[in-house]
Amino acid sequence: MQSVFRGKHLITLQEWTKEEIDTVIEVSKDLKKKFAMGVATPYLPYKTAFLMFFEQSTRTRNSMEAGIAQLGGHANFLDTSTMQVSHGEVAKDTAVILSRFGHAIACRNCFWEVGNKYLRDMAKYSSVPVMNLQCDLYHPMQGLADLMTIQEKFGDTKRLKVSIIWAYATSHKKPISVPLTQALLFPRYGMDVTLAYPEGYDLPDWAVKQAEENAAKHNGTFTITHNMEEAYKDADVVIPKNWGSWVNNQSDAVVDDLLESYKSWICTEEMMEQTNYNSIYMHALPADRGNEVVDSVIDGSHSVVYDEAENRIHTAKAVMALTMGGK
Ligand code: CP
Repeated sequence: MQSVFRGKHLITLQEWTKEEIDTVIEVSKDLKKKFAMGVATPYLPYKTAFLMFFEQSTRTRNSMEAGIAQLGGHANFLDTSTMQVSHGEVAKDTAVILSRFGHAIACRNCFWEVGNKYLRDMAKYSSVPVMNLQCDLYHPMQGLADLMTIQEKFGDTKRLKVSIIWAYATSHKKPISVPLTQALLFPRYGMDVTLAYPEGYDLPDWAVKQAEENAAKHNGTFTITHNMEEAYKDADVVIPKNWGSWVNNQSDAVVDDLLESYKSWICTEEMMEQTNYNSIYMHALPADRGNEVVDSVIDGSHSVVYDEAENRIHTAKAVMALTMGGK
């Protein structure tokens, strides 16, 4: 068990060792148990985390805000449209000042080819841990909650067939950060990961290479297919979710001819019937109901989306307690 986290940035789980990730999950499970029993966990008394959001959020914002309150600390929610960053203040100046005021900076910035660079700039100049609350490339907080959920439902994760499946949606052009994070993380836990998407929705080549390397190192597998049915067949875990065609097309237009040609990529009961009898349906949420998935699946017996969302708070608390407190 790793015990030295204080001050550690979390930009991507790829930069954390498996031992460190295991510790986060272990602490998350302990915090979840204590929360269920009403046991107080004041591990961060009088500590402040600044939460900067360039975009909307329900789960991430509230898991962090409620989470730090439950740890005895306080969060300052910062809508960046009301900050001087909207007048051009640079990441360095924001990071230096906020890190002098408090004990962590957490930030969501999903703008393509901007967000991750912004987070890394903040981390370079911050004297306190910087946490990525989702950027254009990674969503580590979601990845941790997803891993915890799969472990809770199956125990041993080795040889599970886990399918990350592109799905049709029109709500907005979504980042690739959720599937990319899952593609990198799950093979490290010995899972047989299938990434399924229609032509035009590729993840970056470097990410595919890293996912393949992770699989080779940890006895998992990583397979890409453009056949949706193949991904559902005999799967233990299915994660049908939309992501944008950012790698192939940087326009931020939501609906285009390519997207409209893949309306059939929806998670239906017929698709779920192809999966293993005890399979689970996951989604980071918010889901585009009726487009990505039919109600009878997301509200049905395979769905674990609310357990998955609940685990966001337990894992967020674990990351904060370890990086802001501890040794
Ligand atoms: N899954 C997730 O990050 O949800 P929010 O966008 O509501 O934070």
